[in-house]
Parts: sequence; C-alpha cells; structure tokens
Amino acid sequence: MACDVLIFGGVGDLAYRKLYPSLYKLDKNGSLPEGLRIFGVSRREIPEEEFLTEIRQGISRNEDIDADAWQSFLDRLQLVFADATVADDLRPIKEQYFSDGSRELMVYLATPPNIFAPICQSMAAVGLNRPSTRIVVEKPLGDDRESFREINCHLTEIFDESQVYRIDHYLGKEAVQNLLALRFANALFEPLWNNNYIDHIQITVAETVGVEGRWGFYDEAGAMRDMVQNHLLQLLCLTAMEPPAELAADAVRDEKLKVLRCLKPIVASNLKETVVRGQYAAGAVAGEPVPGYRQEEGAAQKSDTETFVALKAEVDNWRWAGVPFYLRTGKRLPMRYSEIVIQFKEIPHSIFSGSTSEPNRLTIRLQPNDSIQLSLMSKVPGLKKGMDLKAVPLDLFFSEIFAGEQGVSAYERLLLDVINSNPTLFVRSDEVEAAWTWVDGIRSAWQEVGQNVAQYTAGSWGPTAAIALLAKDDRQWYEDI
Ligand code: BG6
Repeated sequence: MACDVLIFGGVGDLAYRKLYPSLYKLDKNGSLPEGLRIFGVSRREIPEEEFLTEIRQGISRNEDIDADAWQSFLDRLQLVFADATVADDLRPIKEQYFSDGSRELMVYLATPPNIFAPICQSMAAVGLNRPSTRIVVEKPLGDDRESFREINCHLTEIFDESQVYRIDHYLGKEAVQNLLALRFANALFEPLWNNNYIDHIQITVAETVGVEGRWGFYDEAGAMRDMVQNHLLQLLCLTAMEPPAELAADAVRDEKLKVLRCLKPIVASNLKETVVRGQYAAGAVAGEPVPGYRQEEGAAQKSDTETFVALKAEVDNWRWAGVPFYLRTGKRLPMRYSEIVIQFKEIPHSIFSGSTSEPNRLTIRLQPNDSIQLSLMSKVPGLKKGMDLKAVPLDLFFSEIFAGEQGVSAYERLLLDVINSNPTLFVRSDEVEAAWTWVDGIRSAWQEVGQNVAQYTAGSWGPTAAIALLAKDDRQWYEDI
C-alpha cells in the first residue's frame, strides 16, 4: 500500500540532523517504496530555499550529495505550513494531500511532548487517525513514570498501542542487532549464558562530548534519565533476556519486560554501595582543554545534575542470581565507545602449575567499529619448561569481514521499520514504565540520602568512587587495566 511520511516539527533540529538525511539515504539506496511522499510540517513560515539548504547541510555532514539522488528526494519532498495543534490549520492539508484514505501514513512527532496531545487531537478531528496510521515518538518521554503515563495516555486515547512506535535509537544500531545473532544464532554461548559460568557483566557507554550546547535541557535530565533509563537498560535487557520464541515484536518485548521487572530495586539503604553520581570539572579531552559542566555556555553555577553514573544492577531471577551487571555512562570521558563485556568465571581447577590462567572474556563493541572479541588462554610458543600461558584475543571485526556491505544508520533502519510496520525494535509502553519505575526508585533514594555529585576531571574515567564500586567486589572496569 502507498505510504506517506509526515514530520511535525519538520524544520527542527531532529528533522534536519537525523530524519531527512536518513530518508534521503534510504531513497538513494532504493529502499523507499515507490510513490512515498515526505511532508515537513512547520508552524513558522520559512522560505523553501532555507528549508532545502538546512536539509542539504544535514546530509552533507555524513556524505557528499549525489545530484540524481537529491533530485529524486526533492520529487518526494514537500514543505507545508500549519500549526498542527489546531485542527482548522491541519484540515486544508488533509484535504489537499491525504484525502485518499487508502494511503498509509507515518507521522513523526519531532516536537516537544507537551504538544503531543493537541496534535493527536487535531489529527483525530480531521480524520488522520486511521487504523493504518503509525505515530513515531522519541525521548524525552516524561521525566518519571507518572509524567510518562500522562504523555502516553494522550497518545493512546487516540491511537492504539500497536500504532505507537517509541524510538530508542540504540536498538537500531547494527551491533545491537548482532547481539541477538550472537546469542540466538549460535549454539556456543547460550548454554554458558547464566550464573553457572558468568562472573559479571559490564555495560559502558562512554562519550567524549559534553552537553553540546543544550545545557538547559540536559540539566533537567542528567545521565540517569538521558542514558540509563533508556539506552543502557535496553542493552541490559537484550543481554539478559530469555530466548524469545521468535523474532516477533511482542515475543522480544515480553522477554525484555520480564528482565526490567526483575531488576532489584535500589533504595536508600543500599544506595551508597550501589550507585555513583559524577559531574565533570574542567580538564582535557584528546589533548584539548574543555570547561567544566558548570562553566559550559548557559550553565548555572549551582547545578547538582549528574553527567556520569556508574551502578551495580542485579537481575533477580534464576538465570542471573548473584551476577552483577555494572553499568556506566558519562560525558567528557577519555574515549567514545559503547561496549558490553561478559566476564566468565575462573576455570574450576588448573593443571598448569606455575602459570596463571585468566578467565575468558567476551567483549561486544557496539561503537565505534563494532566487533566481537573473545579472550582465550593459549600456550606461548617455545620450549620453556612447563607451560607458559597467555590470554589472546579471537577477533571479529565486522567492517573487515563485511567490507563492501553498505552500513546502515540506526535511524535509517528504524524509519524503514516504521514504513514497513515492523515494531520489533521499538519500545512498548509497559517497558518504558518498568524502566521508569526502577529509575524513579534510584532517584528518590538520591533525594532521601542526599547523594550529591562527585566531581571528576574531564578526560578521566569518572569519579574514583566508580573504580571503588567494582574494587570492593574484587573486580575492575576493563579499560582501566
Ligand atoms: C542521546 C542522548 O539519546 O544519545 C545524548 O540524549 C547522547 O546525550 C546520545 O549523546 C548518544 O548517542 P550515540 O548514538 O552517539 O551513542
């Protein structure tokens, strides 16, 4: 069936940076259905020239613009002016472009969530809430469970849950997909994927950037709500979930939800030994001096917002009892990378006297340069008496193995999934709620205990307390070694 894409907030940052460039790329590689039209809706009247220049700039950040592909994209593209919160403004657009009810509609709400409700209501008033309409939203979806429920309620008053596509762009990353392949397309790991063989798991999402000119927004959120509540918990879910019966949306989401519901609450009494909050002070990243969080442009002097979180999560179920999941994320760290490390247990008995053996470790690097690395113990060649053992890596570098295959960005994959009505990689409302429930618990424990942020120098691995978090369990973060 023919489909159209309607972007509310069509001249905003998200649309220019991510949505148009991804749609252009999908068009260029022939992935968009024939006849698909793209409408950018703006409340503000701007010259079309300005609109197109911004789109070209967004595309050029990643690639040179191809003249034929640009022309084909232009043929699909239209800028329209309307205040989408007002039905009378939307009606003429509906009549001019969407009166043919047989065309499907994907609607991206690239607007602040406080206007989701009036937009949905005016869509309903003009009859754009057809059963085939898909609504796409992305975070911030509330700042706690209650505010999420309220936002969600506005969406689901008008649209069915199956029509709402909540984006967590981490789920669109190639390497995150590969985690599913690694776990469920290989017989090797699944028998070992439990507390009999795994000692602990580390999930790190490290960034070198600071708040990138959005201090005001970030200060309201902080790392816990900006990163842990969504991206890190989704990675934890995919790592910890039971094998779904099939790769179908609800089968996968049901399993993720069970994990979220098994997360052991972090409360005031166990807060201090489980969670570390940090905030960067002035320092240097990649040799360049950078200001502290409170000296960033537009900053207030007194903020207690965390730009770093490290915590020890526990999944209270049969498979994971006693296996800590250490999560860590922060801005202005020394490197940008995201990684999941599965640390296996020690061998039960060593026959190699005089040589120590390190436990195996599986490292799944999500970005940059996704790879999988398995560290194995091996004999060092030579005639030395006894056996000299060394940990050596078995490496899979996907960019080398699949050289020539075209890389796909997270937004390209996710937008195409919405166009094709495939919700597997989108987050269901009960998952978001369960994630908020756990995060809200931690945040209220912060308040109860009065846990302030610890300063860390920009360019370091966070406050020393983050190192102590693992050290007291006799463990360490891997890049610190
Ligand atoms: C966003 C956060 O969701 O993810 C940003 O709001 C963060 O603060 C970004 O920088 C990180 O995404 P990626 O894909 O660059 O790792």
